[in-house]
Amino acid sequence: ETAEKGGFDHFMMKEIYEQPKAIRDTLASRVKGNIVDLSQEIGLTLEQIQNIEKIHFVACGTAYHAGLVGKYVLEDLARIPVECDVASEYRYRNPIITDRTLVVVVSQSGETADTLAALREAQKHGARVMAITNVVGSSVAREADDVITTWAGPEIAVASTKAYTSQLIAIYLLGLYFAQAKGYKSAEELQGIVTDLLTLPEKVEEVLKQEKTVEAFARSIAKHNNLFFLGRGLDYAVALEGSLKLKEISYIHSEAYAAGELKHGTLALIEDNIPVIALATQQSVFEKTVSNIQEVKARGAYVLGLAVEGDTGLIKSVDEVITIPQVSDLFAPVLAVVPLQLLAYYACVERGYDVDKPRNLAKSVTVE
Ligand code: G6P
Repeated sequence: ETAEKGGFDHFMMKEIYEQPKAIRDTLASRVKGNIVDLSQEIGLTLEQIQNIEKIHFVACGTAYHAGLVGKYVLEDLARIPVECDVASEYRYRNPIITDRTLVVVVSQSGETADTLAALREAQKHGARVMAITNVVGSSVAREADDVITTWAGPEIAVASTKAYTSQLIAIYLLGLYFAQAKGYKSAEELQGIVTDLLTLPEKVEEVLKQEKTVEAFARSIAKHNNLFFLGRGLDYAVALEGSLKLKEISYIHSEAYAAGELKHGTLALIEDNIPVIALATQQSVFEKTVSNIQEVKARGAYVLGLAVEGDTGLIKSVDEVITIPQVSDLFAPVLAVVPLQLLAYYACVERGYDVDKPRNLAKSVTVE
């Protein structure tokens, strides 16, 4: 097992460090020049893509959080209305599905019972089902009409890391492929976005260099039993994933909030020294997020800000800051999640729990 961990103490850390490669492998052969080509794996014709009326992302756990990013991405790039649901809700709630609905199930293992049942339910109602999965030949891959494989390689740690960032990449590729077909953005604009996408592996490598800074912060929060994550837009989707990661392995109770929603309840829980991890990577709502950060600071919170390099506007509003390289709002989740993975990892180590096998949880949930 020590050899399998490749010199790391735990599989989770090994997998965090495998992310640049997982992203490169998931991008490879699908980007030709500045064009995304999924025609080898997706059977949808141009006309079928143009006829899609709505998309449903359906998944569980971390894969569901990838779907939340998918909602922003597909709506923004392809202007197709998107809903996102957890599979255990979707399968029982009688969703409105027609033959012009595309259901995208996201599953690392391809074996999650609720996700598989949701896939079957959607097909029964005439939807076309696409799978984004990490396991070739898995149940979900076999039963879906189209499959985009994430090439993250085997993921052993229960807490998902490289599978999540690879799912995000698959979603960006899908968004761009559909955007090319729908024509809402100019070819030039789309090519610029693809060029940006290709820079992500190196930028993840840059973020990983901040491991020690994150470790110090993680050790300082390890004695707390409650904390909050906040963010707006795509940062909110990433905040949810960061909060899940922390809960799963460190057993610290945490909640993720859409920053603008704070004053509708959560602000009442902010007291002296409570840690708040504030994501502020989205330029489109940067000022709004900073003002939410000031609201929690004013009530005594100890704030770790996560921002894009050069955003000096944030520094005076927070106690500590971690930066990610310059990146467009759309792709920031891939970089922003990495410090949150490291944070969960080090909080867990500091508290002395089992990183790779958290209590009560399984890597793949094949029963309901
Ligand atoms: C379990 C795992 C999670 C995972 C979820 C969905 O709860 O512990 O890490 O996100 O299942 O798994 P899937 O294989 O469908 O992505």
